[in-house]
Amino acid sequence: MNAPAKNEDFVAAKIPDGVYAETVLDVEHYTEHLFRFRMTRPDAFRFRSGEFAMIGLMVGDKPIYRAYSVASPAWDEELEFFSIKVPDGPLTSHLQKIKAGDTVLMRKKPTGTLVLDALTPGKRLYMFSTGTGIAPFASLIRDPETYEKFDEVILTHTCREVAELKYGFDLIEEIRNHEFLSEIVGDKLKHYPTVTREDYPFQGRITDLIESGKLFTDLGVPPLDPAIDRGMICGSSAMLKDTKELLEKAGLTEGANNKPGEFVIERAFVG
Ligand code: A2P
Repeated sequence: MNAPAKNEDFVAAKIPDGVYAETVLDVEHYTEHLFRFRMTRPDAFRFRSGEFAMIGLMVGDKPIYRAYSVASPAWDEELEFFSIKVPDGPLTSHLQKIKAGDTVLMRKKPTGTLVLDALTPGKRLYMFSTGTGIAPFASLIRDPETYEKFDEVILTHTCREVAELKYGFDLIEEIRNHEFLSEIVGDKLKHYPTVTREDYPFQGRITDLIESGKLFTDLGVPPLDPAIDRGMICGSSAMLKDTKELLEKAGLTEGANNKPGEFVIERAFVG
């Protein structure tokens, strides 16, 4: 296997059309399987909070891309991504080794359905995530527009182990300590972390917690109501399917960019 390409390789290699070559600024590893990185943002790169982009590396003389939700908000001068490390993953086996100063490729056009535009107006916004599915919500909870549109924002994050929740806790702390965001967010944002394979005060799959009603009791909110509640879901295919079924059972209908609805879904990408 080849090592990830360094900046100097790009001087000689031709960057394909429609692709940005950006510089890694910072890398933080959370567990054996999770890390985040920040990189420079091209001036011309515009996206809506919650969208994803194709991120890549030159591996040998070939670029390899995977879809990554942008974890930073639309106003941020830098770009942040939250990734798993797949030991034999075509991209992540290389991407997990990047360091500040390395070059990462990004295709120019972002896209995605986990955007505020795809939801009809409501009062309470649920963001249901498992694993790296928290990434698009890391963007949305740091975007003031989310709090202009909703009175209450509930971020649920379920992981197998406690250590995997750290990225979410760091985000909440960053918001609380942020000069402007802390004022805009106030007490509108609620974080509901749960764990499924270790002891923890909040335990269980989010689907089970919705079905039993424990989620709502713990949060002190009424059960799901299509008149005021909106949802966004990001996780594995199985998690999306099961959570979607529960929202539909509660009377919420799925929306899209061209047809806003009461909830939207997107697969948390791996590779
Ligand atoms: P569990 O430990 O019970 O499988 P994964 O890494 O497999 O995507 O799992 C991330 C988290 O999502 C785990 O806590 C896992 O719980 C949970 N999960 C997996 N499948 C589902 C599902 N169909 N519905 C809800 N949560 C799920």
